[in-house]
Amino acid sequence: MQSSFDNDTIRKIIENVDIVEVIGKEITLEKKGKGYFGLCPFHNDNNPSLSVSREKQIYKCFVCGEAGNVFNFLMKFHNISFKEAVIRLANEIGISLGDSFQVKPDKNKIYYDIYDITNKFFQNNLLSSEGAKAREYLANRHLTMEIIKEFQIGLALRERDTLTKLLTKKGYDLKILNELGLSSNDYDAYIKRIIFPLFNTNGQVNGFSGRIYNGENANKYLNTKETPIFKKGENIYNYHRAREEVRKTKFVILMEGFMAVIRAYTIGVKNCIATMGTSLTNDQINLIKRLTNTVYLCLDGDNAGINATLNNGKLLENANMEVKVIPLSDGLDPDDYILKNGGDKFISLISNAISYNDFRIRQLKKGVNLGSASEKADYVNAVLKEISLVKDEIKREIMLKNLAKETDIWYNTLEKKLNELLQSQETTKIKASDVSKKPSNKKDKYEKTMQLIIYYMLENKDFITLVENSGVYFPNENYRVLAREISYFYDKYGYISIADFMSYVEDNKSLSDTFKEIITLDLDSSVTKEVILEYLDVIKKYNVTLEIKRLEKLIMEEVDFDEQLKISNQIRKLKMGSEDNND
Ligand code: CTP
Ligand code: MN
Repeated sequence: MQSSFDNDTIRKIIENVDIVEVIGKEITLEKKGKGYFGLCPFHNDNNPSLSVSREKQIYKCFVCGEAGNVFNFLMKFHNISFKEAVIRLANEIGISLGDSFQVKPDKNKIYYDIYDITNKFFQNNLLSSEGAKAREYLANRHLTMEIIKEFQIGLALRERDTLTKLLTKKGYDLKILNELGLSSNDYDAYIKRIIFPLFNTNGQVNGFSGRIYNGENANKYLNTKETPIFKKGENIYNYHRAREEVRKTKFVILMEGFMAVIRAYTIGVKNCIATMGTSLTNDQINLIKRLTNTVYLCLDGDNAGINATLNNGKLLENANMEVKVIPLSDGLDPDDYILKNGGDKFISLISNAISYNDFRIRQLKKGVNLGSASEKADYVNAVLKEISLVKDEIKREIMLKNLAKETDIWYNTLEKKLNELLQSQETTKIKASDVSKKPSNKKDKYEKTMQLIIYYMLENKDFITLVENSGVYFPNENYRVLAREISYFYDKYGYISIADFMSYVEDNKSLSDTFKEIITLDLDSSVTKEVILEYLDVIKKYNVTLEIKRLEKLIMEEVDFDEQLKISNQIRKLKMGSEDNND
């Protein structure tokens, strides 16, 4: 089993961390009954199917079958090794590790340290006398000192090398400062800009964006270049701050820029995040999915914003997410809108958010002249197509009625057309599902029984000895090895838990896959000894059947008459024996 398996360490970690908390840091978990549920990050999930058990310290997905303990989760989620997962958790709870776990300190740590110092430096600059102009600018934009503090807004000074000097004096190599985009050719990369620090999902500063504020003739925002810890397309502004709030509101509001997010925060709308003015990437969509499955798009109200809404909405819908739209009028962005109309107006816009479908229909109608027969026909057909994509039947009917009223076309005609559309979609769907049909992995009765036995060995230690003493041979190798390893683990360590055993078999792929399947079974937690004995008996009889089959085959191949007789006697005995057992 695990070459680096250090059971004491594994056990100590499992006992001292809570899998619900660890996973809860990465994806939103909700308590339902005894367990916790969230969207499974390991397949394209649209319904919370990942279940996390505090009691057993394991997680399992009922749809894709991914399962394991806290180490497995971190390994798979962050794409790290078992060793790295152990180190990460050990560090978190402050236990020291043996020699086999010693590695050099995190290379990125130095980057984060530098950004941390830089961030504090920028924040101080804003409070200095040179910061007066910048403070005035921020005040004019109605940002209070409290908000400035919360978002850690800072200032890069006029002089061209203050930061570079500070950091090199502290012993940081100029080469690293260049690599991090803080310096270039001995000089500061950021000068005379209001600085917005950017954060990774854990809330560590991983970059900066600097805004001009003094009427300079330069690019409005200057962003950190791509570094080992910052990729623009993978970062989401305000992600770490919004996380807690999204747990409460159950949806996230996606905006285009920082100012929008910060403004919304000032009126108490704290579940907002932003891309940095770019179209959503898959990485960002996956990050959003860790928060929630419901996204409200609140992009700028200009043409670019409308197109971005259409594009991003499609991307999110393709990722099985629920999309709503908060449309802003007159080309305003959320910041302008709130300043102009007040927070309450904006909050009521949120509660009146429309579905992505409705938004698309609205857009279709723009500029259409319903007086022209051909424009009207195109419009009606386009809207019908949108309606056909709506899953809810009642909603479809309402939309159809509206369309009939709006265009003065007979309802029944529209309905007939819609049904035709729905019909043709149904046939393409069926064809698609034919193609994607997976080979079924149905287990036969005996395999299922072996799974049950192993499951209950882990539920009740008494059954471990019961299985051992029964001497029953598991005909399937994976189950046989699992049962044997469970006994071995229990004998050696004097206890056993699913979470611990999971790490024990981790390095054997086929074994751990079989084990994952077993722990994903959702079974009663207590059965009696008699039930286990019955299961064991089923396997015993199955072995007899297998042996009879083997002998029958042997007889066919045997040429010697005496040998044939011997075998047939053996078969008869076996058959009688299993009949005896049948009573
Ligand atoms: N952006 C950028 N570089 C630019 C312009 C914009 O990186 N030259 C990004 C920023 O992250 C910005 C977002 O795109 O927050 C949206 O741009 P915009 O709407 O122009 O900026 P606002 O956030 O509205 O900022 P402000 O109100 O200060 O103009
Ligand atoms: Mn703006």
